[in-house]
Amino acid sequence: MTQSPGQGQALDNLLTESRTFPPSEEFAAQANAQPELYEEAKADREAFWAKQAERLHWDTKWTQVLDWSDAPFAKWFVGGKLNVAYNCVDRHVESGHGDQVAIHWEGEPGDSRAITYAELQREVSKAANALTSLGIGAEDRVAIYMPMVPEAIFAMLACARLGAMHSVVFGGFSAEALRTRIEDSSCKLVITTDGQYRRGNPFPLKPAVDEAVAAAPSVENVLVVKRTNSDVAWTDKDVWWHELVDAQSDQHTPEAFDSEHPLFILYTSGTTGKPKGILHTSGGYLTQASYTQHHVFDLKPDTDVYWCTADIGWVTGHSYIVYGPLSNRVTQVVYEGTPNTPHEGRHWEIVQKYGVSIYYTAPTLIRTFMKWGADIPAKYDLSSLRVLGSVGEPINPEAWIWYRENVGGGKAPIVDTWWQTETGAIMISPLPGVVSTKPGSAQRPLPGIGAKVVNDEGVEVPHGGGGYLVLDEPWPSMLRGIWGDEERYRDTYWSRFKDQGFYFAGDGAKYDADGDIWLLGRVDDVMNVSGHRISTTEVESALVSHPTVAEAAVVGASDATTGQGIVAFVILRGGAGSDAGGAEAIKALRDHVAKEIGPIAKPRQIMVVPELPKTRSGKIMRRLLRDVAENRAVGDVTTLADSSVMDLISAGLQSGK
Ligand code: WT7
Repeated sequence: MTQSPGQGQALDNLLTESRTFPPSEEFAAQANAQPELYEEAKADREAFWAKQAERLHWDTKWTQVLDWSDAPFAKWFVGGKLNVAYNCVDRHVESGHGDQVAIHWEGEPGDSRAITYAELQREVSKAANALTSLGIGAEDRVAIYMPMVPEAIFAMLACARLGAMHSVVFGGFSAEALRTRIEDSSCKLVITTDGQYRRGNPFPLKPAVDEAVAAAPSVENVLVVKRTNSDVAWTDKDVWWHELVDAQSDQHTPEAFDSEHPLFILYTSGTTGKPKGILHTSGGYLTQASYTQHHVFDLKPDTDVYWCTADIGWVTGHSYIVYGPLSNRVTQVVYEGTPNTPHEGRHWEIVQKYGVSIYYTAPTLIRTFMKWGADIPAKYDLSSLRVLGSVGEPINPEAWIWYRENVGGGKAPIVDTWWQTETGAIMISPLPGVVSTKPGSAQRPLPGIGAKVVNDEGVEVPHGGGGYLVLDEPWPSMLRGIWGDEERYRDTYWSRFKDQGFYFAGDGAKYDADGDIWLLGRVDDVMNVSGHRISTTEVESALVSHPTVAEAAVVGASDATTGQGIVAFVILRGGAGSDAGGAEAIKALRDHVAKEIGPIAKPRQIMVVPELPKTRSGKIMRRLLRDVAENRAVGDVTTLADSSVMDLISAGLQSGK
């Protein structure tokens, strides 16, 4: 099998790990999840999910739990009708919790705002009225390109309330990346800000929107929130948020939409250069986001203060800042900025300030905290923390233990949650209070979820064996397709194990002796950099679009902090000039990638080489380049068309060219 050796060393440690941490009796006694949940789901999966759907308010009840007759296109809670925003906001006000804080928002420069559920209802209603006045209705697409300001959440919920689909584009993506996403789903409206705070300074954001919109004729208006007070260019499509939204009525009656009504599109990288618009719908998505939020995080709406450090530009922000938490009537912290602004204790200062009890972050950040030193969290009172979460990539046992000891006071259970943009919500994770946790393992599918590790033939491997992770049962929050590309949906996820009808996740995995699942990284050409998915092909096409580059090959090499780092090998054009491989030129290439995709896709390293290793059929052998990038002896070269190429590459690199 072709398992990615990209994370080689971390995984070696990971596979020899055998410590376990049983839940304390105290925790188990108060836990939302009970061991019977597994039995209950197994006995009747659909009845189990129907019970979870009862967590929501349905205007019309469904007539059928699951319709899988048109597989792989699922319909969940068929015939049911609900309004997603009503479920996240209004019903909590109606049940007497209007004065509960929904969002403790913390701006990077130190400004803050507490937003109650009653206020959230008014803000979302005003925004919905404003969107209506701009001609936005059910199924229209709205691009949201914003930093982590409260209006970003109001905007998402306003779309949901109107049955319009949001397409949130991470504020760190380039104008070009924004344009292609706007174009792919013909967005009518873009919501943005004048600028954003990053590492203590205001940066402009609207110029990127101006550039994208100038080349995207589907956009009729741009709604602009004033955040940094920067000067902005103004076109006749532009409208200020504070002028339009603030003038609206704060009353708005939500309409109920079909359970399968589209809720959002979120673009993610695949194995080709073109990002995939992952489509999610309403009833099933909200059911699973809500169920997992409650059980995996042991959420107690009356007492907990929850904080997920993700950005709404990623699926984690959709499911575990907006829909999961708010549908559960959480009180949560939303933080705008970077973790070391103005100092490296910023997160712990925030935990202390608000008494955060549940904290959900990514391994890359935990490893960064480790680098900064344990003395930093030690300066703060973190005793309120009682559940810790991890997501985005495999967490190495060393980071897991550090997290438990230095953040969780040596006792808070850690939930390592495996899922994807496509799965919409958490799929594999220990249930706190029920499962004894193991550093480095996401462990077992949640009640109601079917996941397995199988070999090339689709046969489940025995305990101790490795292979591919598949999902063998449809689940409520599963993607309903790729926007505008049914074929790609079938090909990407359902063709690898077509006979078995399994969803192919793209991850390698193994079972340990207890049958717990350990995730081993991607098996396709997708890299995972700081928990962000970036396709090798996408970075390669960005590089070859630069006039000096003839050919490029990109690999993810293991990186102690970011999980993987992007390493690019480029062949320069003949006429590129004698200094083309120099430091200046390399910088120009890195900047070019940032411009084409965004700073997160900047290669860590670019090596200029005379040739690339290719098979006789012309396929680049990334495995060999990964060996070079990770300073390993180069593996088997016998399938290369020209086996001396690797010598040429190594020789060139050693002489420092
Ligand atoms: C890919 C999905 C899920 C939200 C963030 C990323 C990797 C995710 C884990 C985990 C090991 C993980 C997988 C997956 N991944 N969580 N707990 N352990 N790997 O969402 O951008 O859609 O990426 O992230 O490789 O396929 P995404």
